[in-house]
Amino acid sequence: MQIISTVAELRQRLRGVAGIAFVPTMGNLHQGHLDLVRIARQHGQCVVVSIFVNPLQFGANEDFSKYPRTLQADCDKLEGLADVFFAPTERELYPQPQQVTVEPPLANELCGAFRPGHFRGVATVVLKLFNIVQPQVAVFGKKDYQQLYVVRQVAAQLNLPVEIIGGETVRAPDGLALSSRNQYLSAAERTEAGFLYQMLVSTRQAMLDGVTDYAKLERQAAEALTARGWQVDYVAVRAQATLMQPESGARDLVILAAARLGQTRLIDNLEVCI
Ligand code: PAF
Repeated sequence: MQIISTVAELRQRLRGVAGIAFVPTMGNLHQGHLDLVRIARQHGQCVVVSIFVNPLQFGANEDFSKYPRTLQADCDKLEGLADVFFAPTERELYPQPQQVTVEPPLANELCGAFRPGHFRGVATVVLKLFNIVQPQVAVFGKKDYQQLYVVRQVAAQLNLPVEIIGGETVRAPDGLALSSRNQYLSAAERTEAGFLYQMLVSTRQAMLDGVTDYAKLERQAAEALTARGWQVDYVAVRAQATLMQPESGARDLVILAAARLGQTRLIDNLEVCI
């Protein structure tokens, strides 16, 4: 596997290469990322993985400086799975003091309401990376459901010739979705963290059992989390296709949640087809 850190070198390496499948990441790779890389392999001859902790998608009081950076371990994990590993510096991706940005739809909804500017940062870096790598296929995890929606919108609305594929969430045995941020949890918080998924499962069950008062389900789920010491940003039932409030009778839904345990903000979601 080749490790490349500049745009010029990457362009040189990929010139004339057909069938590029791309997995953008912020590194600190876990099984969830490696599954995305395996999906990419099924869709392309040349698998490119990027690792870049994107400052543009972190708010002023967020964890940009403490976000785990484990480049060597990441390289080792990708050996034999990816063909090209792109790890640019901040200066390489953002050489100008004033960055052109992309404002995607729903940027201020759901997680966007609690992380102002986050999806602008995501959309901007993903568009830059797509322009640099020029993949035919790109794979993103469904765990970041709103991010996947935003990336699909960017690709579709800006007419990018890339197919976006969503990879299923990989979970620990207690249901906790794998995330680089799980390592911030204390031992006690880690024990509690599986409850987020349990709450999603019981909310889904209520929906499958015919409960249609979604506002009440959202409220009950948030109260259950709060009672156990979580600080809830939101629990929301939305339409899968639009991430908007579902029309009555809508069948393809998703329950999305974001809540904090101590200092750690966790997100998760569960699709429900009624
Ligand atoms: O999901 C992530 O790791 C990041 O948000 C992404 C898509 C690599 C953009 O920085």
